[in-house]
Amino acid sequence: MLQEELHERLYLEQLLQAAPSSVLERDEEVVKGLSQVPKTLPPRYFYDDRGSELFEQICGLPEYYPTRTEASILQHCASTIAKMTGPCELVELGSGSSTKTRILLDAYGVLGYPLHYLPIDVSAGILEESALQLLKSYPTLQVHGVVSTFDLALEKLAPSPLPTRMLCFLGSTLGNLNPQEYDQFFTQTVDALDTGEYFLLGVDLQKPKAILEAAYNDSQGVTAAFNLNILSHLNRKFVGNFNLAQFRHRAFYNESLQQIEMHLESLIDQVAYLETLDLKVTFEAGETILTEISRKFDLETIQKDLAAKGLIPLQTWTDPNHWFGLTLCQVR
Ligand code: TRP
Repeated sequence: MLQEELHERLYLEQLLQAAPSSVLERDEEVVKGLSQVPKTLPPRYFYDDRGSELFEQICGLPEYYPTRTEASILQHCASTIAKMTGPCELVELGSGSSTKTRILLDAYGVLGYPLHYLPIDVSAGILEESALQLLKSYPTLQVHGVVSTFDLALEKLAPSPLPTRMLCFLGSTLGNLNPQEYDQFFTQTVDALDTGEYFLLGVDLQKPKAILEAAYNDSQGVTAAFNLNILSHLNRKFVGNFNLAQFRHRAFYNESLQQIEMHLESLIDQVAYLETLDLKVTFEAGETILTEISRKFDLETIQKDLAAKGLIPLQTWTDPNHWFGLTLCQVR
């Protein structure tokens, strides 16, 4: 297939550079996060092109069970989902490599439904690359990719060419939001969709601590490299001088909050400087930046929260171990 033919079925939209005010806000989030105690960073800074690549590697690690568990559930229920929604545009938040999307596209394809896919990701590189791969595999597929944060994309979600849409939020990315962002996210989702449209949510479930901690402390050190890469991204983006060798990755399960916490710990007393933000960041030895939380859910609570927001759970699927859950909802 010729490159031009692929590009005829691809439309890429850049919302990040088109919105200078939102870029400023993001800078402020970095300033605020690094100025408070404990220090934090917005997790989307993990996903520059290098970060997205490392995350793809994480998904294939033996200790990192969520990706393959969610994929196995999808294999099992995709055809049921396609029959329940009928022809529909697949919208995906944080699409990354779109590997799991293929399972859904296959199911819609088998039923002879038209294939429209709207992936949303902050990493332009991985978005375009995976879109082109998909277009090669699915000769009738139309892709409308959007380079954007979730907030902005949901606010500006384009009308669908098909009668309905299904917004997919997989990989337990929901768990990376704090309780306030979680609540706000459901509100934004309901606002972005029309009555009767669908929401497909994948969440990681509570399980023994040893299994959880292994998933975020892999033996090959890929998760550590991924966590540290957020500092390289900041160095590049804000002309900074974080010395990666003077930080280490630490991840553990906080049982009372039911969340994995991912930190970068400063090995020494040090000062880093981010030039374009004119920000000095002072660390004591042992001090950490909380780079990410990954909350672990129980299905009953999730379903109650969804229903309370007007996202009516239609059906839920899980794996034999009940390690991961997938819920299809419909907007009331
Ligand atoms: N959504 C993924 C999760 O919570 C993100 C993730 C996996 C992650 N491993 C990570 C984020 C390591 C930071 C560091 O499981």
